[in-house]
Amino acid sequence: MAEQFLADVVEGLTRDPKSVPSKYFYDRRGSELFERICELDEYYLTRTELSILSRHGRDMADAIGPGCLLIEPGSGSARKVRLLLKHLRDPVGYVPVDISTEHLSRWAARLGEDFPGLYIEPVAGDFCADFHVPRVPGVKRRVVFFPGSTIGNFTPSEATAWLGRMARLTGSGGGLLIGVDLKKDARILEAAYNDSRGVTRDFNMNLLVRLRRELGADVEPDRFEHHAFYNDAEGRIEMHLVSSERQTIRLDHTEVELERGETIHTENSYKFDLDQFRFMAAAAGWRRCAYWTDDERLFSVQYFEVA
Ligand code: AVJ
Repeated sequence: MAEQFLADVVEGLTRDPKSVPSKYFYDRRGSELFERICELDEYYLTRTELSILSRHGRDMADAIGPGCLLIEPGSGSARKVRLLLKHLRDPVGYVPVDISTEHLSRWAARLGEDFPGLYIEPVAGDFCADFHVPRVPGVKRRVVFFPGSTIGNFTPSEATAWLGRMARLTGSGGGLLIGVDLKKDARILEAAYNDSRGVTRDFNMNLLVRLRRELGADVEPDRFEHHAFYNDAEGRIEMHLVSSERQTIRLDHTEVELERGETIHTENSYKFDLDQFRFMAAAAGWRRCAYWTDDERLFSVQYFEVA
């Protein structure tokens, strides 16, 4: 784990332009900061998706039908899945997949208390890589539940490849219920990633804190600034750490030179049009059956079946 982290960071920082994969935001503190982001006024994504799930959960459950096995990559606190589970007809099982195993078993146990009779099998793993899904008898349909617009962290080609893997994983009759953030006024988007309390800034900076503590990197977070903006041509929010001065980061016998103003690209968060996402999923073998949005069309939850 730590070795992979180091290898990925060295790889990213010796590239031009410099980058670090966004999945490394989520250590304990990073996950806490992300939870706080989700509560912010400016960060419309979480509350809007929750309201769509509350309002249309029953229709989503109807689309999915009886006897499903729900698979949730990156389940975290498994809060959203409850809004679906309470409407699903005779769900057979729930498979949360998460890297952080300590949280995973705790949340799974709590969910088990609230949904007695539901077979729950947590899987520890990185959902970006291949993960194992248990064979459960009596399953009519495997359904991947992927809320939060986490799909937006992948580049379009990575997203298509990942969606293709999910199509093969769920097999014929498989389903995908996915949260997708929509394109909108850049001011709304930029405010969501530049909140007035600086929580997103701390979240971004925490990556440097991790480099110091976990990889022994000689890097001073104070010498960087948070920068997030909407790249209209690419249709994505980009987050960067901008070097405030000319400096050298040392880690594991590698010296990384940064010019003043040079950035480390830490995250992409792609935003989609409804049609654009339908086409992308279609290229990966999915046919869209339904979608739900809020009245302002800020966010969407979309349901697909294997074509
Ligand atoms: C968890 C990937 C959906 O892209 O909006 C929040 C992560 N980054 N604020 C997003 C994030 C900055 C978030 N996702």
